Amino acid sequence: MSSLKKAKIAAIARAVPEKILTNFDLEKMVDTTDEWIRTRTGIEERHIADEKTTSSVLGIEATKKALKKAGISAEELDFIIVATITPDMVFPATACIIQNAIGATKAATMDIEAACSGFIYGLSIARQYIATGEAKNVLVIASEVLSKITDWDDRSTCILFGDGAGAAIITESDSDSEIMSTVLGGDGKYGDILYLPAGGSKKPASHETVDNKEHTIKMNGQDVFKAAVTKMRSSLKKALEKAGIKSSQLKLVIPHQANLRIIESLRKFLDLPKEKVYVNLQKYGNTSAASIAIAMSEAEENGIIKRGDYIALCAFGGGLTWAATVIKY
Ligand code: ACO
Repeated sequence: MSSLKKAKIAAIARAVPEKILTNFDLEKMVDTTDEWIRTRTGIEERHIADEKTTSSVLGIEATKKALKKAGISAEELDFIIVATITPDMVFPATACIIQNAIGATKAATMDIEAACSGFIYGLSIARQYIATGEAKNVLVIASEVLSKITDWDDRSTCILFGDGAGAAIITESDSDSEIMSTVLGGDGKYGDILYLPAGGSKKPASHETVDNKEHTIKMNGQDVFKAAVTKMRSSLKKALEKAGIKSSQLKLVIPHQANLRIIESLRKFLDLPKEKVYVNLQKYGNTSAASIAIAMSEAEENGIIKRGDYIALCAFGGGLTWAATVIKY
C-alpha cells in the first residue's frame, strides 16, 4: 500500500423541515412548561417533519447543497455512508435510496447505526477509505426524523427531540486541511438506558408492541446524562492528544446538541470561554446523528469557522456509543 493520504471535509450543508414546534406548543400536548424545558435542557423549539418527509428526503436535500458547494457531481462519489437511527425502512439501506435519487451510480452504500455518534463514526470511516486510496470522494450524511419514533404522550422524552439532516463531502486533501484524529467507542452494557424495544428481530411488530408503544424511544435520562458527561470528556481529550493539539488552540468545539447542561460541563472541563463552544440546540432540539452536522454547517455558513482553524467535534448516543474528532478545517 502506498503512503496514507490526508482526508478533509470539502463541504458541509444541512436541511431541516419547515414546521417548528415550540415549548409552548408542547405545553398544550403534555404536562410540561416552557420554563422546565428551557432550564433542564436549553431547548426552545425544534423542527418537525411532515408525514411525507423521511430521513432520505432530508438527506437528499442536504446532499444536493453539499455537492454544489464542493463542486463535484453525484457520479464522482465512491461511497455513501448514512448515519441514522430512523432509516426510511429496515432495509434497503437509506444510503441506497439516496444513491438512487441523486444518481450516484459509482458509489458503494452503507448505513451505520451509532445513534448520536453516527456522524463522527461516518467521518472516521470516510477518512480511512480516503487515507488508503480506496475512495476519492465520500459522502457522509447524518439524517434523522426522530419525531416518528417519539412517544408524544411521554413528557420525559418528547420535549427533547427534533428532525434534520447534515451532509459532508470528504475528499483527499492537497492542502493542510485535514481530519487529524478520530476516537470511537462503545459499551453495549448500557444498551438498556436508551433504546427502541420493538420492530427488530427480537420483538417484531405486532398489535401488542403497537399497543404498548414499543416502537418509540425509551430512555433513563439521568443515567444517559452521567455517561454522556464522562464519555464526551474522555473521548475529546484522547482525540486532542492523538492530534497533538491543546484545547486552547481550538477555534471551536461542536458537541452533540442534547442538553445545555451536558455541553456546559464539557466546556468547563476544557476550560474554554462560551464563544468557543457552539450551541444551537435552542432552535433544533436533539437531532441525534444530525446534530453536529447541522451545527457545523451553520458555524461554517456564519463565518465562525474558516479554513485553517482547529475544530473539535464530540458526541455520545444510544448503544452507548461515543466519538470525537479533531479537524484542521
Ligand atoms: N416537564 C415537566 N416535568 C418533567 C418533564 C417535563 N417535560 N419531564 C420529566 N419531568 C419531571 C419528572 O417526572 C420528575 O418529577 P418527580 O421529581 O416528581 O419524579 C422531575 O421532572 C425530574 O425529572 P428528572 O428525569 O430527574 O429530570 P432531569 O433533571 O434528569 O432532566 C433530562 C431530564 C432533561 C431528560 C436529562 O436527564 C437529560 O437531558 N438527560 C440526557 C438525555 C440525553 O442527552 N439523551 C440523548 C440521547 S439521544 C440519542 O442517542 C437518540
